[in-house]
Amino acid sequence: MNTKSNKIVIVGSSNTDMVVRCTRMPRPGETVLGGEFMMNPGGKGANQAVAVARLGGNAFFVGMVGDDIFGSQTRSQLAGEGIDVSFVGTAAGCASGVALINVDAEGENSISVASGANARLMPSDIEAVSGVIVGAGILLMQLEVPVETVAYAARLAKSHGVTVVLNPAPAPADTLPPELLENVDILIPNRTELEMISGHDCSGSVDEAVESLAGIGVGTLVVTLGSKGALICRNGERRLMPAFKVKPVDTTAAGDTFCGALCVALAEGRPIDEAVTFGNLAASITVTRAGAQNAIPTRAEVDRAASL
Ligand code: ATP
Ligand code: RIB
Repeated sequence: MNTKSNKIVIVGSSNTDMVVRCTRMPRPGETVLGGEFMMNPGGKGANQAVAVARLGGNAFFVGMVGDDIFGSQTRSQLAGEGIDVSFVGTAAGCASGVALINVDAEGENSISVASGANARLMPSDIEAVSGVIVGAGILLMQLEVPVETVAYAARLAKSHGVTVVLNPAPAPADTLPPELLENVDILIPNRTELEMISGHDCSGSVDEAVESLAGIGVGTLVVTLGSKGALICRNGERRLMPAFKVKPVDTTAAGDTFCGALCVALAEGRPIDEAVTFGNLAASITVTRAGAQNAIPTRAEVDRAASL
């Protein structure tokens, strides 16, 4: 990584999450009466930026909001977390991102997203803020903004020695462009995302999928495996870092917390296995609470859990 800088730049989405907790997921055509409604700040990019900031990292968020009430709430919410939001643009005449989320009694979720302004974050917007990206130690991204924007930012960062971390979420409908993957240092998919990227079934073992990605140019692959933890794959070796045992209430933003935490630990100069353990611990706290950003722990909470 670019050891000159402790800055972590997060390029990605922000959403307002409309959440209904229900006993079980509705089937197509069915209505399930829900118990509770919550409106929370979310979006994978913003969640990861909040995780970085709460866990003690130096966070800069690059994104796009609409010129509506949700956009201004997002901006002030993120600024209130100590995140630098001077690189967040406003798309005129456009709605901010919104996610509709169902959470069932086991804490599992299903999410549909109206991207709104997130879909308007263009490579030219990245070019306009290139200074903050090339001056970072780590660039962290997801796939809720256009893939060509992600690819542009990855290329720019990589060519300046910035460590590029990609969480390919949500799972892409198509295989990812090879020129994007070539510029990624650390790829962090969950099972579904690994399956989509590799084209191999990941419902059981992920071995075949991991092997198939050996030649794509990504230095380190970290596969998140929910309650099983995360698998580190690098230099032909694999190491499973087990999850912490908790009773899940709502898994929303578990992956986001994991990615943010991993980047904070790397920015502190910790090795990848310690960074993954830190990610597992932070994410295990997130799954015990409702909501996305509401659920992400502070550094003090993670340190306290580590000492138990
Ligand atoms: P989500 O989309 O629900 O935010 P994800 O599908 O992107 O999550 P997962 O692999 O489910 O990612 O979870 C990410 C990390 O969160 C795991 O690697 C693990 O550290 C932690 N985690 C998730 N579920 C649990 C659980 N039930 N118990 C403990 N830790 C968990
Ligand atoms: O990863 C969780 C996030 O996915 C939610 O906050 C929702 O906004 C969707 O983007």
